[in-house]
Amino acid sequence: MEIKLINQPHSILNTFVAELRDVNIQHDPLRFRRNLERIGEIFAYEISKTLTYKSHDITTPLGTANEWLPEEKIVVTSILRAGVPLHNGLLNYFDRSENGFVSAFRKYTEDGEFDIHIEYISAPDLNKKTVIMADPMLATGSSLELAYKAIKANGNPEHVHLVSIVASQAGVEYIKNMLNDEPVTLWVAVVDDELNAKSYIVPGLGDAGDLAYGPKL
Ligand code: URA
Repeated sequence: MEIKLINQPHSILNTFVAELRDVNIQHDPLRFRRNLERIGEIFAYEISKTLTYKSHDITTPLGTANEWLPEEKIVVTSILRAGVPLHNGLLNYFDRSENGFVSAFRKYTEDGEFDIHIEYISAPDLNKKTVIMADPMLATGSSLELAYKAIKANGNPEHVHLVSIVASQAGVEYIKNMLNDEPVTLWVAVVDDELNAKSYIVPGLGDAGDLAYGPKL
């Protein structure tokens, strides 16, 4: 497993991440979703640099141009619901890819502990494909791990790119330990130091799903 942190060197990515985090800007859900989407586009561009390319002849109005085009069959997959805007950003660039969705949610017990439940998965044939799985927040790492395992139970992709915008150090370590021998690349925009008692990332940005789509019961 490989880990790629994309916030070095500094780029316009920093502006989008800062706006996601900023309480004075977060009240605008359209901007919040659009920033998740813009970061999805940046991840897509970075991931595209790791794909395999084949030469193709392209007929122009004036002749033939040689272009190197990616060979992989890509499936963009996201964890509902906060993954959806990130999914859209990835799909803006990998616009011919297939799509998958996994629902993962925290089921809290009375003492405030929680387990992650996967209730729904929709995926095309994944065999020999390149899966990109999006979840903007990598907190404890257990949702991403279970979503990865749910995807693997549905087929045998060649490679899986896990994509998160804000990760906790503990979450990155967890994924590294759990998926160390798997054909996986973990892509992260920023890594924060802490998780609070409710396993939210600190300083993080709050609840990405609520900020994008409103509060839930
Ligand atoms: N999910 C979120 O939306 N935010 C966190 O900080 C952790 C998990």
